[in-house]
Amino acid sequence: MIFHWGILGLGKIARKFAEDLKTIEDAKLVAVGSRSQERATAFAADFGTEYAAGSYEALFNGPRVDAVYVATPHVSHLELVELCLENGVAVLCEKPLGLNYTQVEEMVGLAREKQVFLMEALWSRFTPTTAKVLELIEAGTIGEIEGLRADFGFRAGPGAAKRLFDPALGGGSLLDIGIYPIWLNQLLLGEPEEITVSARLDENGIDREIHVSLRNREGKLGHAFSTLYGRTKTEALIHGTKADLHWHTRFHEPSNFSILREDDSPENYFFERNANGYNYEAKAVMADVRAGRTENALWSLDDSLILHRTLTKIRELAGIRYPGE
Ligand SMILES: NC(=O)c1ccc[n+]([C@@H]2O[C@H](COP(=O)([O-])OP(=O)(O)OC[C@H]3O[C@@H](n4cnc5c(N)ncnc54)[C@H](OP(=O)(O)O)[C@@H]3O)[C@@H](O)[C@H]2O)c1
Repeated sequence: MIFHWGILGLGKIARKFAEDLKTIEDAKLVAVGSRSQERATAFAADFGTEYAAGSYEALFNGPRVDAVYVATPHVSHLELVELCLENGVAVLCEKPLGLNYTQVEEMVGLAREKQVFLMEALWSRFTPTTAKVLELIEAGTIGEIEGLRADFGFRAGPGAAKRLFDPALGGGSLLDIGIYPIWLNQLLLGEPEEITVSARLDENGIDREIHVSLRNREGKLGHAFSTLYGRTKTEALIHGTKADLHWHTRFHEPSNFSILREDDSPENYFFERNANGYNYEAKAVMADVRAGRTENALWSLDDSLILHRTLTKIRELAGIRYPGE
């Protein structure tokens, strides 16, 4: 049976996700919802979508949807995830799942109470690159991990999305892009026990750049860095007792990596790319929902809770607060 998708919020990322759905044979985008009927109609026309809703609520008046992808700015995730869950529809919600830990806890609580599928769209967890990196690490290829550092930066110039600088829309580098280095740290070193932060905040109290040191239970260190001041390599360097793994730019996408052993030439791993990379998370959601599962095993709701506990602590240490917090 064809899997029916809906999308709420028709901005930049919604368009990329919709492009990737087209590459999945048994997936179909059947409904889109926007705050504007005009934008919904135009988006639906671009993607051959049968139902265009002029409000988010009206999405549920159309054809059956098996899952909704929430692609609005961070601040509206809570409200829209709850809207979907109350309608009994599975949700894939863009990262960050919530603005803070309390919001994420609320969403997770509702999803578990209603027994409806919910997943944070941490697409990097689902790429073939990540799968191979984990496979090699688990096989002992680089030995025990000693530490890692990862970065993500881009030049947010005058043409950049306004939401990046707007506290009312959850702006700043950490929640937008810094989340990826923090995620990788969690994946490889677990929840940090000790965090130190150095941030550069703008006149609205938003982090344009943030450096985070994360020490895990065994004392191992991870370093995560994000900035809106310039383009960084966006790579991850993972140091093991036997070898290093250099995860090449941009590590959070379907990307390439090398294993470097002392005296040996690098062992390179290349991955083909025939979509934007959101197809992998979409397929994971489809498999879960079809099987009647309410969480994903690779990126569970507990994983999201840990990630947001860390992100919220980092913001507290840096003094980054959003309106209403
Ligand atoms: N996974 C990734 O690679 C990736 C990449 C970029 C962004 N993201 C995440 O995706 C989310 C959206 O990012 P985006 O870059 O797509 O943003 P965007 O281009 O600004 O689009 C967001 C859309 O959300 C809707 N919206 C609802 N309330 C809004 C408000 N108050 N202000 C502006 N738009 C509002 C709008 O759609 P309507 O007008 O149609 O309602 C808008 O087009 C963010 O949470 C971000 O972290 C993820």
